[in-house]
Amino acid sequence: MRIFSGIQPTGRKHLGNYIGAIAQYISSQERGEGIFCIVDLHAITVAYDPAELRERLYDTTAILLAAGLDPERCILFRQSDVPEHTELTWLLCSVTELGRLQRMHQFRDKSIAQRELVSAGLLLYPVLQAADVLAYRADEVPVGEDQREHLELMRDVARRFNTRFGGGEEVLVVPEHRIPSVGARIMDLQDPARKMSTTGGSAQGTVYVLDEPREIEKKLKSAVTDSGSEVRSAPDKQGISNLIEILAAVRGVERTVIESEFSDARYGDFKAAVAAAVVAYLAPARERYEELRADDAALESILQQGALRAGAIASSTLLDVRTRMGVGPLDAASAPSTSGAADTVNG
Ligand code: TYM
Repeated sequence: MRIFSGIQPTGRKHLGNYIGAIAQYISSQERGEGIFCIVDLHAITVAYDPAELRERLYDTTAILLAAGLDPERCILFRQSDVPEHTELTWLLCSVTELGRLQRMHQFRDKSIAQRELVSAGLLLYPVLQAADVLAYRADEVPVGEDQREHLELMRDVARRFNTRFGGGEEVLVVPEHRIPSVGARIMDLQDPARKMSTTGGSAQGTVYVLDEPREIEKKLKSAVTDSGSEVRSAPDKQGISNLIEILAAVRGVERTVIESEFSDARYGDFKAAVAAAVVAYLAPARERYEELRADDAALESILQQGALRAGAIASSTLLDVRTRMGVGPLDAASAPSTSGAADTVNG
């Protein structure tokens, strides 16, 4: 079983990222071959600062390692170090419907949010995401609920490729998403109608993985709730429902277990219990982070090693894809390498 997922190098990863995705990455190391990619090329599709991007990439690498990704047991790498991702993006564009990209929720939301330029990269974002996964012929993709639409597109792209170029074979594996049944969509604590997010959320409503315990307690204790008094999930109780979801995910139990445990509790006591559980949940990652983050060279070396291993898998898929698509020589393995050709010209 090969498991692949990607995460943006925004650095300030929050509780939603942790519960919805990072926790599943960690546990997937027990279930199969995990491949995890920090997607710097996705990050350049909106306005950004180049120097900051590099720093945030190391921040994200250190968070993932601190959370428990083990480079001995999985592959952890930076997207831009493996050029097969961008090549496959272009090749997959030929089996991707333009109208579908224009209708994607994320494209619509993010293009409205751009002040200066809506880049072509923003439109092609989901094709790069499809290439990320399909290059590894991954079986499963652990993600939060907000990635469902991207996963569906990716599956359709793989199917269309196989129909058009596969001659009846599954050249590209059609991956399954793994969206957790609890915690797939953690909401903003101050505005529980919106998902917790680095870009669109409120500062007080977003718990960051690296927040100090006191800060976490403050944010959870001031979480918006309704005027009722019952700890119960309901559509008109979005704030309380979100806190139930958080506690259930952190403890690894169903929502109903939390509801019955706190059936007689007041909101204040319930919030305090959620705060304590979240502090304890994030503590190990926060404690390990500083030491890991202090050593850029060690982080870089882990990413480079990961890229070598990832590149070996992706290049074999690309050889197959190019051949099937009629791109490049039929017997690519015996064709002269580009560097060889350059030597002849130069010398
Ligand atoms: P990103 O970096 O925005 O988010 C990383 C992961 O966190 C999940 N997530 C959440 N889960 C629960 N509640 C929330 N409030 C919440 N917010 C975020 C996301 O679902 C995601 O799993 N496009 C992707 C990155 C990507 C990728 C890929 C993912 C690039 N290539 C290939 C999977 C496979 C993204 O922006 O994630």
